[in-house]
Amino acid sequence: MTYKEKIDTGRLPAHIAVIMDGNGRWAKRKGNQRIFGHKNGVNAVRETVEAAAETGIRYLTLYAFSTENWKRPQREVDALMSLLVSSLHDETPTLMKNNIRLMTIGHTGGLSDHVGRQLNMTIAKTAGNTGLKLILALNYSGRWEILRAIDLIKADMEAGKPQEALTEDIFAGYLQTRDIPDPELLIRTSGEFRISNFLLWQIAYTELYFTPVLWPDFKKEDFYQAIVDFQQRERRFGKTSEQLHQYEQSQNQ
Ligand code: FPP
Repeated sequence: MTYKEKIDTGRLPAHIAVIMDGNGRWAKRKGNQRIFGHKNGVNAVRETVEAAAETGIRYLTLYAFSTENWKRPQREVDALMSLLVSSLHDETPTLMKNNIRLMTIGHTGGLSDHVGRQLNMTIAKTAGNTGLKLILALNYSGRWEILRAIDLIKADMEAGKPQEALTEDIFAGYLQTRDIPDPELLIRTSGEFRISNFLLWQIAYTELYFTPVLWPDFKKEDFYQAIVDFQQRERRFGKTSEQLHQYEQSQNQ
């Protein structure tokens, strides 16, 4: 039985986030330059987006470029940016065909005009699509997003906007993900056990799934395997296992 067949389609996570890692190591193992790994990483992006759309996942967030990634050699940064532009350009018709809407989080104003133009084009073109929402985290970091939210709250206060006591819900309304449910599942490839400044507020109760597979090797079945693993877990949100089962029993009566 394949992992795809094992998925309980009635209990899918609405939002899956992915830290795509291992492109550099994959290329090195093949005796190639890191950029070769990124080029092949695009195939894994395609596989993952298709798998998410086919399964009926509503939100897929991919960590494509962090605020820290600017520290990489300029040649690699340039290659990542041109891969982003060419992939968006080439894949826009496929996004349209599959009713996928592209969105972004991160400081996209800090990207070059060239990248900004292509992003805006694909975002505008796909804005009416109602299927999978594909969210690219670009020039993103979780701490940056939290600081930005605090700045926005400060600005509202200075503008005299009536203030309620700050709750988690109100704070979340100042994040870039305000209209997006928190991810239930976060996948990280390449055997690293880190969060790397990704969605720090949003992953408070997220199930974490780590796989040794390097990103360019990540296939649909790897994505389905992560969903099956997620579905075998018990999400307690601070409650005890007994409390959860009592609740389930009362619902079934
Ligand atoms: C991590 O591997 C990967 C990235 C920093 C970027 C991911 C980018 C792509 C797959 C290309 C284009 C993206 C889109 C959305 C079309 P790494 O370089 O950190 O690998 P390493 O840890 O082995 O060095």
